Amino acid sequence: MLNIILLGPPGAGKGTQAARLQAERRMIQLSTGDMLREARASGSPIGEKVKAIMDAGELVSDAIVTALIGERLDTCVDCGAIFDGFPRTRAQAKALDLLLSERGRKLDHVIELAVDEDALVTRITGRFTCAKCGTGYHDSFRPTKVPGVCDVCGSTEFKRRPDDNEQTVRKRMEEYRAKTQPILPYYEERGLVRSVNGMGSVEDVGAAIDAILDGTA
Ligand code: AP5
Repeated sequence: MLNIILLGPPGAGKGTQAARLQAERRMIQLSTGDMLREARASGSPIGEKVKAIMDAGELVSDAIVTALIGERLDTCVDCGAIFDGFPRTRAQAKALDLLLSERGRKLDHVIELAVDEDALVTRITGRFTCAKCGTGYHDSFRPTKVPGVCDVCGSTEFKRRPDDNEQTVRKRMEEYRAKTQPILPYYEERGLVRSVNGMGSVEDVGAAIDAILDGTA
């Protein structure tokens, strides 16, 4: 039962790879970004609170995201876990250690997706998802096979994230450099960090991650 963190700036491909791993292995994708988007769509008090923060490209409070992760971690006790977009601060990294140890789990790998930030703006601003099943696409890198029709469920409705504009993306990257990248040494000291070239194709990045998980790299 593997527990891994996918770490990288906005658009590095964390969500793409986490969704693939969830589909191919007995692992659950725990994306704090997705959980927060669900909360804001529900119109709950927490959702209202996080909406403005997310739209500004800033980080939501450690307490809120840690509580969300704790709840979801318990939805499948015998599944591995893929932490996607969490932890993002040192406080979250420490909270995750506690959440895992309380459940008799341990962290196996922190996989850093190494990427060129300028290329990421193109990746993010071209991203869209199926409004019905959530499958992710990209205008240039991963278009639907039939224009305007989801490959998976056939829906013709798609959506784009409100924070996927260049100005907010730059702010999200700034937050990543200031608050998230500095947690790498916390894991390096424990020998958990593996770096993967995130600029390869989706398939190549996936193969590099698989090799780490299967112990062949
Ligand atoms: P979140 O949803 O986590 O966004 P993010 O970290 O900014 O990451 P993205 O989802 O933008 O990118 P990704 O790395 O998953 O890339 P993807 O696979 O989609 O967070 C959003 C906001 O929520 C934050 O700004 C913050 O406000 C809040 N938040 C979330 N977690 C928080 C936390 N823990 N603490 C506090 N606040 C939190 O790929 C991007 C595009 O590129 C796609 O179109 C994809 O098809 C394409 N692509 C992927 N891989 C490749 C490839 N190898 N080659 C070419 N194209 C590719």
